[in-house]
Amino acid sequence: MKKRKLLYVSAEISPYANAGGLGEVGRSFPKALMESGDYEVRQVMPYHQSVVGEMKYLTDYPVAMEQGFETCVVKTDPRNKDIVTYFITNDRYFHRDNLYGYEDDGIRYFFFCKAVLELIKKLNFMPDIVHTNDWHTGMLPLLIKKELPQIKTVYTIHNISYQGYIPVSYLSGLLNIKEQYALGWPEWLNFMRAGILYSDLLTTVSPGYCEEMKRPEQGCGMTPLLEKRVEPMVGILNGIDIGNYDPMRAEELIYPYNALQPEDKRKNRTWLREHYKLPEDERPLVAMITRLDYSKGIDILLKAISFFDFTKFQLMILGSGNPYYQGLLASITTGYPESIAVDFGYTADIAKKIYAGADMYLMPSLFEPCGLGQLYAMRYGTVPIVNPVGGLGDTVIDDKDQPEKSNGFYMREWSGQALNEALNRALDSYQTSAWKQYIRNCMTFDSSWKRSINEYKLNYEAMFYREPESSGDKEGIAKKERKVGAQRTQI
Ligand code: GLC
Repeated sequence: MKKRKLLYVSAEISPYANAGGLGEVGRSFPKALMESGDYEVRQVMPYHQSVVGEMKYLTDYPVAMEQGFETCVVKTDPRNKDIVTYFITNDRYFHRDNLYGYEDDGIRYFFFCKAVLELIKKLNFMPDIVHTNDWHTGMLPLLIKKELPQIKTVYTIHNISYQGYIPVSYLSGLLNIKEQYALGWPEWLNFMRAGILYSDLLTTVSPGYCEEMKRPEQGCGMTPLLEKRVEPMVGILNGIDIGNYDPMRAEELIYPYNALQPEDKRKNRTWLREHYKLPEDERPLVAMITRLDYSKGIDILLKAISFFDFTKFQLMILGSGNPYYQGLLASITTGYPESIAVDFGYTADIAKKIYAGADMYLMPSLFEPCGLGQLYAMRYGTVPIVNPVGGLGDTVIDDKDQPEKSNGFYMREWSGQALNEALNRALDSYQTSAWKQYIRNCMTFDSSWKRSINEYKLNYEAMFYREPESSGDKEGIAKKERKVGAQRTQI
């Protein structure tokens, strides 16, 4: 079979740019898909300020914006031999300290979507599939449907609560009034709506989140649109790069270990305690590596700290983000020098040392589309304690009656009290012989991309065999086919 061509589009692809799970998936998924055969994959992202290294100029072209044109310069990374990576460069929009959080975010990412559309027309690589991710790329399935309808588009939702808006004037002439209404208010158009309505395949990152999003209280206003789609959304669990997150990697851990000899895990714990000046004693070490954000359960953690029993465990928090939470955490935890260590300087290296050295891992998220932290922790035999929402409920098993099947502990509700209770159950079990089994179950859990890649492939292929009318909301979508061959130049 001829290989299909797929262009993966994301606002974040680690190590170039990374604000969280989106960037991590951007690093591992396209590569895993390419390595599985069948697909020739390339990827494109904005040239953020965080992108380091000498890039190679490829081409430039104007991109029509609301009034006049903006220049797009396309660069590639000559050192990346794994996968061709394009960078959409425009210093006004992307040479900034942060990836998001600006008043003109909608305009910045609309420019990105338009620039990618133009790039596709110019490249000597006409994709069969364009795989877009989260709100930043939501306008691209719409633009493709209008201008290159022979390309199939996939839209993956990693977090439905961030949606993105753009004034309608930026799309003038492209949409009729019905289509404008379908995308939000007539004056402001919603990127997430566009992605949901115009993509041929809609996916999210776990079966659990897929169900939760259909409930109005969790769908962030998108529930009616999700119901309207003829082809339903599919929840496919994220995988991780198990080669990168591997407790046997001696270059990262001073004491590498595997599932058969998890005893060496303790030596990593001793190292960690010394590093963070926590006393060495019999108490297990409980870790949390997190963005400091309400949705990650920081508030309930802060409440729970006042009734945690620190005679039974030590707590290590590696966090980054909201300065408000940093301040609170720093002041609350100074009262517990023997029991709590807090670090606000996230690096992938120290994160791995914590996954390896800790005994338990906290993930009390309010909602969690997939969650990668619990998968990394399990890889290192660190037992997760979670609020079983979204992907956390799909990957962590708490079966009180059958510890031989379990790999973690569930909170019974989202509260500090329930976090404390779940933690206490884990601490009680830590004293028993069942704990070794928990560690083994964690370390043998298959979190590789293998299974999920097969699911993606099945769903990708199905797009090519569907009746054209059956995918997306076709109401009002012009079915105009345009010949684009003439516009293509060989670059
Ligand atoms: C977002 C979600 C997280 C998910 C990640 C990758 O960051 O919040 O749950 O694991 O995207 O899909």
